[in-house]
Amino acid sequence: MLTTTGLVALATSFSTALAASQGFNYGSTFTSGAVKFQSDFEAEFKAAQGLIGAPAGGFNSARLYTTVQGGTANGPISAIPAAIATKTTLLLGIWCSAGDAVFANELQALKSAIAQYGSSFADLVVGISVGSEDLYRISPTGLLNKENPGAEPATVANYIKQVRETIAGTPLSGAPVGHVDTWTAWVNGSNQVVIDAVDWAGVDAYPYFQNTQANAIGNNKALFNDAFGATKAAVGGKPVWVTETGFPVSGKTVGEAVPSLENAKTYWDEVGCPLFGATNTWWYTFQDAAPDTPNPSFGVIGNALTSTPLFDLSCGKVESE
Ligand SMILES: *[C@@H]1O[C@H](CO)[C@@H](O)[C@H](O)[C@H]1NC(C)=O
Repeated sequence: MLTTTGLVALATSFSTALAASQGFNYGSTFTSGAVKFQSDFEAEFKAAQGLIGAPAGGFNSARLYTTVQGGTANGPISAIPAAIATKTTLLLGIWCSAGDAVFANELQALKSAIAQYGSSFADLVVGISVGSEDLYRISPTGLLNKENPGAEPATVANYIKQVRETIAGTPLSGAPVGHVDTWTAWVNGSNQVVIDAVDWAGVDAYPYFQNTQANAIGNNKALFNDAFGATKAAVGGKPVWVTETGFPVSGKTVGEAVPSLENAKTYWDEVGCPLFGATNTWWYTFQDAAPDTPNPSFGVIGNALTSTPLFDLSCGKVESE
């Protein structure tokens, strides 16, 4: 029998379970370099929301890397009206690795989006990420992988300040402002000024790429948990969101990590399922193979836009009460 107290407890646990954002990362272009328009983003968001077998709550959040629409200097990205049309929440991205002029265009696009879409936009914003792996790109590993240019920690901190000034007094003023980087950047004491500047830290973690460690699929859960735990320990109690993680369905072997549907599913079950519903998570990724399949490929769907995943996404968890 459900008493009033029981109902309240049930309602509380239910809303807690769905409180975390759950979604994917979305680029502003296709693999051909063709830019995405509103209809493209809408089709992707709808297909992701309809994913067959998705865990409770579904995938209705989108992390973006840039606020600028492809093919424009500083127009707001059409993922924003697509999100409004499909009730998709947004982790906005401000690109910070291309110098001050490009950053100024990002700020202008943000201002225009606020002016154009107001609170229907602001109500969907889970957070704003100022930068993506910019500190990793200036680290020795980033330089070795020719990922440069990135941005210095003082630059990222200054950009965060400018974003806060831009949203102050607007419908977006309540949006938590953070930064996304690799766990190796978060634990690097030289980047403390960025930790001090953020409301939350986003971590991108890929045991698949950690080829200096034993990174066979059987060790991936432990490697992910180490990266996540080290980031949490480094950021002094600020929330840590998982902004990118995943395992390739196809492509080259890196160290001991072998891409396959089976291993991608193992990673999903062991790393994804415990995160979903509990920690804000934007998986990498929904689709990265339109029209051409990259090597490695991380998409849970292939070249064609569909809600039928390449492997079983159900988490098989019995929701506890
Ligand atoms: C630590 O961070 C600083 C500033 O971002 C960077 O210059 C340096 O290369 C980083 N060191 C390592 C080992 O990543």
